Amino acid sequence: MATPHIGAEPGTVAETVLMPGDPLRARFVAETYLTDAVVFNDVRGMYGATGTHDGARLSVMGHGMGMPSIGIYSHELFRFYDVARIIRIGSCGAIQPHVAPRDLVLAMSASTDSNWHHQYGITGHYAPTASWPLLHAAVQAAQARGLAPHVGGVLASDVFYHHDEQAWRRWAALGVLAIEMEAAALYANAAVLGRESLVMLTVSDSLVTGHAMSAADRQTTFTDMIEVALAVAAG
Ligand code: HPA
Repeated sequence: MATPHIGAEPGTVAETVLMPGDPLRARFVAETYLTDAVVFNDVRGMYGATGTHDGARLSVMGHGMGMPSIGIYSHELFRFYDVARIIRIGSCGAIQPHVAPRDLVLAMSASTDSNWHHQYGITGHYAPTASWPLLHAAVQAAQARGLAPHVGGVLASDVFYHHDEQAWRRWAALGVLAIEMEAAALYANAAVLGRESLVMLTVSDSLVTGHAMSAADRQTTFTDMIEVALAVAAG
């Protein structure tokens, strides 16, 4: 039975789903890396497909931008399609001088400026984290490919165009590596539903230096990250 936002039949989504924000990126991954990919969703143009990679069944689907969007898709995939693990493959803005465009960041934890966690009714602040088996596997897969990933905290922000253009500096002072817009909701959904999740990010720009990746670099670094994600997904 289809859910409000995913038009797939039960059993058509693999246990492991790779999720870029952009549905066109999801289609690129399916067409480039999956054998016999079958599309399972096109509701709202949010491409999702399942195929095999190196003999392992694998799905890829876009998640859109921001926590409300990834919150909906990850919840429906975990809860209604029995997805066991979601690996987000995205981009981020670096807020530390030693984190540069092209670098790979693995989000060990996800702070947030969003109200997402208020729904749990806790007093205090929840600390969303990556699943250790996925994080560990990603570090090893990255190093095996000669990459030196930064592993640490990211900020999952509701705000891309911040009213206070210097607000990121206060997160940087706490050692946060980079800003993206989804990790806290994905990690919380996985935790609440007893599933696994990991956020892998290529640095697309630096708020410290103002430098951004070229279009060519975007493609190369995306390819490097996909290969790490595929290795993790293959187990
Ligand atoms: N902020 C939030 N998300 C991002 C950024 C940023 O600066 N760069 C890439 N994704």
